[in-house]
Amino acid sequence: MAFWFFVLIFSFYSKSSAEVVTALPGQPTNVSFKQFSGYITTDAQHGRALFYYFVEAKSASPLSRPLILWLNGESNMLYVESPIGVGFSYSNTSSDFLGWNDTRTTKDNLIFLINWLEEFPNYKDSDLFLTAISILTSLVAGHYIPQLAALLIEYNKNPNIKPIKLRAIALGNPLLDLDIRVQAGDYLWSHGAISDETLMLKNSVCNDSKYLSEDVHGKLSQGCKDVFKRASDEISADVAHDDLLFPNCLSSSSAEQFRPKGKQGNACQHNSPALPLELLYRVYFFLFQCLIKTCKSCRPLEYQEDNLDMNLIPLISDLIKAGIPIMLYSGDQDSKIPLTQTRIIANKLVKDLKLSPFTKCGTWYDKKQVGGWSQSFGGLKEGKNVTFLTYASVRGAAHEVPFTSPSQALSLFRSFLSGTPLPRPSD
Ligand SMILES: *[C@@H]1O[C@H](CO)[C@@H](O)[C@H](O)[C@H]1NC(C)=O
Ligand SMILES: *[C@@H]1O[C@H](CO)[C@@H](O)[C@H](O)[C@H]1NC(C)=O
Ligand SMILES: *[C@@H]1O[C@H](CO)[C@@H](O)[C@H](O)[C@H]1NC(C)=O
Ligand SMILES: *[C@@H]1O[C@H](CO)[C@@H](O)[C@H](O)[C@H]1NC(C)=O
Ligand SMILES: *[C@@H]1O[C@H](CO)[C@@H](O)[C@H](O)[C@H]1NC(C)=O
Repeated sequence: MAFWFFVLIFSFYSKSSAEVVTALPGQPTNVSFKQFSGYITTDAQHGRALFYYFVEAKSASPLSRPLILWLNGESNMLYVESPIGVGFSYSNTSSDFLGWNDTRTTKDNLIFLINWLEEFPNYKDSDLFLTAISILTSLVAGHYIPQLAALLIEYNKNPNIKPIKLRAIALGNPLLDLDIRVQAGDYLWSHGAISDETLMLKNSVCNDSKYLSEDVHGKLSQGCKDVFKRASDEISADVAHDDLLFPNCLSSSSAEQFRPKGKQGNACQHNSPALPLELLYRVYFFLFQCLIKTCKSCRPLEYQEDNLDMNLIPLISDLIKAGIPIMLYSGDQDSKIPLTQTRIIANKLVKDLKLSPFTKCGTWYDKKQVGGWSQSFGGLKEGKNVTFLTYASVRGAAHEVPFTSPSQALSLFRSFLSGTPLPRPSD
């Protein structure tokens, strides 16, 4: 109750700061869409505000197109830097940077969205899609989006408000739990990146769940340290854990030589950190220290570490039950949050919710090439067959799919918005 009261109060005091963006470094001068950026105040008393960049659809009638909230594409794209401490988002109250956690991020994100719609009221009737990819860490997609979706559904139950039309959510290589999601032993072994002995040690002495759980709670055992040191030595610091195919930075020509055909993104990766899970965990904190060093209010955000150890699979299940379709996709070269585990979670959801397969598990296509493998599941809603869950792997893609595989990502995105299965060879 108290929270909704705050939401309404803060909405009332929200100040306008939208600016039209007329030029950006590196952008052609004659773009045919409108772009805006600015701050949305999420707490006027504390002086807390989230930074956004909004791109209107390249269309004669952008209002007829859906609105996509992208945390950290022919649609209206709203990119948000959340929580405070990320990029240009800030607070004037230093205590805001202490004891921050998922609950506070989610509330701030909702207040942001409500106040943003006050700033751009024409979009109040738009269909809203929530999505995120994991920028270095999987929390952004795995934790923030499902929790924001759940809070939005709660918010929509309030009388006297205009409900926000949440339509679907998409999660790329998301961290959803520590029991299933992070198990990378079999994946690394089947890619030849760790030895038989190391796999055996992972299975008997310390698997990734145990390691990460110990680490998050500050109780890392020697046994776990040893197994992970061994694994990371075998994988080598010259291989990116979030993309086993990505070339290392030696010189641009050597990176060029190694680059698999058709692979895009930056020429090479810098300094791959030693332990994948350690990375995941460190980056959780790193992310909240200003990424943009020139920002004046730059301050590290102290985040409640145990929030990493949260199981969001039941929440995903509730969202599907509430009629919100979900797309779970995985770049298949990511060893941090491997696709094998996405599939286990998708299958678990299908079984628990008794969803029916709408398509066989098979290849999906992007420009006549196999984009990956996928399967869509659904059920009846108001007498119609509706897709509730799409699982898709993205062939050759990294932890951050749009970064290495923009064309495949666009095909995924189109299916996501239209709520249809991914293109098959006959399409
Ligand atoms: C912008 O100008 C360039 C160079 O004149 C042209 O090739 C391009 O098609 C233009 N783009 C748009 C969106 O008008
Ligand atoms: C934070 O403080 C600055 C300087 O006083 C002020 O200009 C700004 O509006 C404040 N931010 C918010 C969100 O109130
Ligand atoms: C976040 O912190 C608040 C107190 O500041 C607490 O009530 C809430 O349970 C915490 N949430 C999580 C997910 O740890
Ligand atoms: C990981 O290890 C823990 C503790 O030994 C065990 O309970 C759990 O079942 C293991 N998980 C998998 C997927 O093997
Ligand atoms: C829904 O899909 C299932 C499985 O493909 C099919 O058997 C059923 O007839 C469909 N129902 C409707 C109402 O279209």
